[in-house]
Parts: sequence; structure tokens; C-alpha cells
Amino acid sequence: MERPTVAVIGAGSMGEIFASGLVRAGWDPSELILAVRRAERASDLTHFTGIEAVLDAREAARGRDIVMIAVKPKDVPETVRQLAEVITPDQMVISIAAGVPIAVFAEAFPGSPIVRAMPNTPSAVDKGMTAFTVGSPLTPELAEQVRTVLQAVGETLELSEDLLDAVTAVSGTGPAYVFLLAEALIEAAIREGLPHHAAERLVHQTLWGSGMLLANSDKSAFRLRGEVTSPGGTTAAAMHVLEEGGFRALVEDAVQAAARRSRELGERASDS
Ligand SMILES: NC(=O)c1ccc[n+]([C@@H]2O[C@H](COP(=O)([O-])OP(=O)(O)OC[C@H]3O[C@@H](n4cnc5c(N)ncnc54)[C@H](OP(=O)(O)O)[C@@H]3O)[C@@H](O)[C@H]2O)c1
Repeated sequence: MERPTVAVIGAGSMGEIFASGLVRAGWDPSELILAVRRAERASDLTHFTGIEAVLDAREAARGRDIVMIAVKPKDVPETVRQLAEVITPDQMVISIAAGVPIAVFAEAFPGSPIVRAMPNTPSAVDKGMTAFTVGSPLTPELAEQVRTVLQAVGETLELSEDLLDAVTAVSGTGPAYVFLLAEALIEAAIREGLPHHAAERLVHQTLWGSGMLLANSDKSAFRLRGEVTSPGGTTAAAMHVLEEGGFRALVEDAVQAAARRSRELGERASDS
């Protein structure tokens, strides 16, 4: 398959992660273009990625095979208004904006294939998880292009659009849950007397190793946890404190809050 040309509109954190991932995956920087709003950001991006960055979303999008919209949900209405002047039905639009429904893009870009995707930041090390949904059935060639672009930075999972707010709350937001746990564990380790560098090393490697074990084992998280926990032992003492303190209920509340916020952001973008 010929590599599609890609414009990333709004190359902030996530847009830069995708663009750099495409270069790592074999795209020539000349096959990519970035759009941002600030000149300083544009020159930094070009310096670090080798990809041309321009200050006009329309210029970036014109004629590219795929236009990836990576602006914040609040900036989607303005960005879509700009792009509607230039996007033609032979261009595919991939939005990664949290909460914003496919309908917003389908209305602005009639005839263009639309994909709504929710990636996450481990994409920066090609270990991302991106769930996506397509607005209407894609030709095999376009479906292949979507997979190639999204899988440049990790794994993909196709789901129906009504599940994407939950995806946002679980895997989109997910790295932050893990990083908060890392912060808390490091602080607790230091309070137990470990030097800072040792605490960090123990926690980083434990989280990485546990994630690898979970991803590569056929055993469930419940089973793997059981294997660390002997009755009356140290892990049992720790688990008792977490369960009694309402750890599960807190996680559930956090996921619900993130999903609710994703829906709110989408409703705002739809109303504008
Ligand atoms: N970060 C994550 O973990 C994550 C995960 C999954 C999905 N997402 C989604 O990815 C999107 C971007 O998130 P982010 O964290 O990368 O945000 P971000 O760092 O703020 O990046 C957005 C960028 O878009 C630029 N921008 C806004 N309107 C523009 C326009 N019309 N033309 C050109 N550039 C424009 C912004 O410029 P200024 O700097 O001037 O504002 C900013 O550089 C969001 O919709 C978010 O929901 C993020």
C-alpha cells in the first residue's frame, strides 16, 4: 500500500506524538504536514520532527489524503469552519478530539470518510491503544489506510461510537490513573525510608513489568493478583487497606466522571 499523505491539524501533545510515530513507522517527513497556531511552536516542531509546520490549517489540509484533527474539543467548531473551505470528498478525516461526535464532521465535510479515534499517550513509545469508529463503511483501501496510520503508534480496536466516551474514560485517561498510582507509590516508598532514586526505579520497573505480565499472560488481573497474595501475608494486609478504603468505588467514580466530561465536551462542540 502506498503511504497516505497526512496533515495533522493542531500538533500539540497528541498531534506531535502521532506525527513522530508516523516518521518512526517509515513515513518520510515530506509526506506529512503539521498545522499549529503559534510561530514559535511551529519552528520547534520542525526542528524536532523534521516535518514542515504551518500556521494555516487550510494550507496544511489542502490535497492531503488524510486530515487528522487533533485540536482540543473546544477548538473543534472553529477548526472545522476553517477546514470546510478546503476539504474535498476524496480526503479522509480522522478526529481524535474527545467526545466530539462523527456527525459534527460529517455535516462539515459532506462525502468525506470520517473516523473518530481515541488514542492515548503511550503512543509516544509505540505502545498506544487507540479505539476508533468509522462514520460509514470504508472501502478496503481506506480501511487499510486507517489501520496503517493508527497502528503506527500501537494497537487499535474498532468499536461502535456510543462506546467512545467510555473508551475516553478508560484508555484515553488511563495513563493518568497509572501515573497517579506511580506518584503515590513513590511517595509512600520514600516515607518508608527508600532513597528517591531507588523508589523511582522500583516503582517504574514494577509497573512496567506488571503491565507486560498482564498483557502477555492468559491469566486475568484477578488471578495474577491472587498469585502475589498469600493468606495472612504482606500483600493481603495491603489489599485489605485498599478494599476497606473504597479503592474500587473511587476508581469507578473517576471513570464515570471522565465519561460524563467526554459527553459534555462533545455536546458543547455539537452546539457551536
Ligand atoms: N493528551 C491526551 O492524552 C489525549 C488522549 C486522547 C485524545 N486526546 C485528544 O487530542 C486532542 C488534543 O489534545 P492535546 O492534549 O494534544 O492538546 P494540546 O496539546 O492543546 O494540542 C492542541 C493543539 O491544537 C492547536 N490548535 C487549536 N486550534 C487550531 C487550529 N485551528 N489550527 C491549528 N492549530 C490549532 C493548539 O494551539 P494553541 O497551543 O495555540 O492552543 C494546540 O497546539 C484533544 O481533542 C484531546 O481530547 C488527547
